[in-house]
Amino acid sequence: MRTPVRRIRIGSAALAASAALLLGLAAAPAAQAGTDGAKETKTLHELARESGRYFGAAVDNPELADTEFAELLGTEFGQTTPGNGMKWYATEPQRGVFDFTAGDEIVDYARANGLKVRGHTLLWHSQLPDWLTSGTWTAGELRSILKNHITKVVKHYRGKVFAWDVANEIMNEDGTYRENIFYTTLGPGYVADALRWARAADPKVKLYLNDYNVEALGPKSDAYYTLIKQLKRDRVPIDGFGLQGHLALQYGFPGGLKENLRRFADLGVDVALTELDIRMILPSDETKLAEQADWYARVTDACLAVRRCVGITLWGYTDRHSWIPAVFPGEGAALPWDENLRHKPAYDAIRSALTAAGS
Ligand code: G3I
Repeated sequence: MRTPVRRIRIGSAALAASAALLLGLAAAPAAQAGTDGAKETKTLHELARESGRYFGAAVDNPELADTEFAELLGTEFGQTTPGNGMKWYATEPQRGVFDFTAGDEIVDYARANGLKVRGHTLLWHSQLPDWLTSGTWTAGELRSILKNHITKVVKHYRGKVFAWDVANEIMNEDGTYRENIFYTTLGPGYVADALRWARAADPKVKLYLNDYNVEALGPKSDAYYTLIKQLKRDRVPIDGFGLQGHLALQYGFPGGLKENLRRFADLGVDVALTELDIRMILPSDETKLAEQADWYARVTDACLAVRRCVGITLWGYTDRHSWIPAVFPGEGAALPWDENLRHKPAYDAIRSALTAAGS
């Protein structure tokens, strides 16, 4: 059994660790005795770090109030991403009025627990504030709104986040540009502009494009490949490609994942699995959980096989808090910890994959 080593802080207030934990008498959920007993002394992040990667999990602000959840997040993982707290509706709820409360809460929590933070996201078609979506903007106005938003948010988090999902989900499944408000008003050049504005606001942070359904080789990942190649040619600052990794057992494992990661890395950018979860049609059973475990191992292996794959972030880590049941009724059980924060077979599979690579 493992004794948690880090004290958990949420915002500025330290959460009192339970007396049992302070005395090292009780096992936190992360310290469950596994079948290999004493071998389970390293966290997933510590194992990933042995291969030069991080292992992280996203968190939505309300979840920090779940102290059991927050403790395990702070001990098991080395990176986090705010599930919602840095999105446009949260950071600029009124035009020109910025609110960093939610993002700051996660940054403070992460700092107190030694986790690095991925910024998510500067530009997306979803979760935009009403003032932005209901307005009628000329190209000049929208350009200035977008530039101001990116500049203010990136400057605020300079030195506090290691990477930004600058543009999120900008392509359709067929590889054409998604007709979001930015594309329809500004044309495709908004992507390069956004990247340049982000770079001007923070010369060091890693700038990513990020999307789902891009894990397999296919028209959508091809579109990003072409775009990133062009951006590099044009000397537009682009540092990475984030593959969200919202997978579902019923659709099959993404074909060519490793080759896909490698082709982006060969363009000279980092790659990362940024929002990994693997859902199934409920109810779960032993067979599905075993298949899910195998998929988690295969995704982990694929990342570890590509030098520029810098890390893996789960989108949450427990079935207790997951976006899936609300969006895909009848599906779920997507994460490596169950609702009671007990390890599922997927946890052991990830662990084995990381251990094999580290040794
Ligand atoms: O803020 C309101 C709150 O006031 C209200 O009481 C509550 C009632 O339902 O809803 C709250 O808003 C919810 C918001 O999350 C904040 O919790 C929305 O209903 C809910 O739809 C929204 O879901 C988020 C979703 O993005 C929106 O598309 C998920 O939490 C978040 O995990 C999810 O994350 C996305 C990534 O950003 C991009 N990739 C896909 C991924 C999963 O959809």
